[in-house]
Amino acid sequence: MPADAALAQVYDSSCKLCHANPGAGAPLTGDTNAWAPRVAQGADTLLDHAINGYNGMPPMGLCMHCSEEQFMALIAFMSGQQFQ
Ligand code: HEC
Repeated sequence: MPADAALAQVYDSSCKLCHANPGAGAPLTGDTNAWAPRVAQGADTLLDHAINGYNGMPPMGLCMHCSEEQFMALIAFMSGQQFQ
């Protein structure tokens, strides 16, 4: 779980439903191999796909009140990568 309590709650109630579920087709939290090609697209593309959706990834990841900062922090947590 993310260390920040607010992020942990968002993660627990949205992202985790798919990103910790091998059947969902989503890159799994902590699976750096699955995230590597996605991270290679760059932070802007990842953020765009998180906000606007991408195939099975629903717009906003079902977190309608999340900020861009929160999405980047969640993506950093799940991918194990740091973004500037
Ligand atoms: C209903 C299921 C579901 C939920 C909830 C969900 N995701 Fe996803 N996510 C997916 C799937 C499926 C993919 C893979 C899409 C593909 O590559 O076809 C994905 C891919 C992604 C990607 C990679 C996009 C890319 O360009 O490769 C990011 C970033 C992402 N999710 C962020 C999040 C965040 C942040 C949350 C929580 C706020 C979240 N997701 C919640 C299903 C979900």
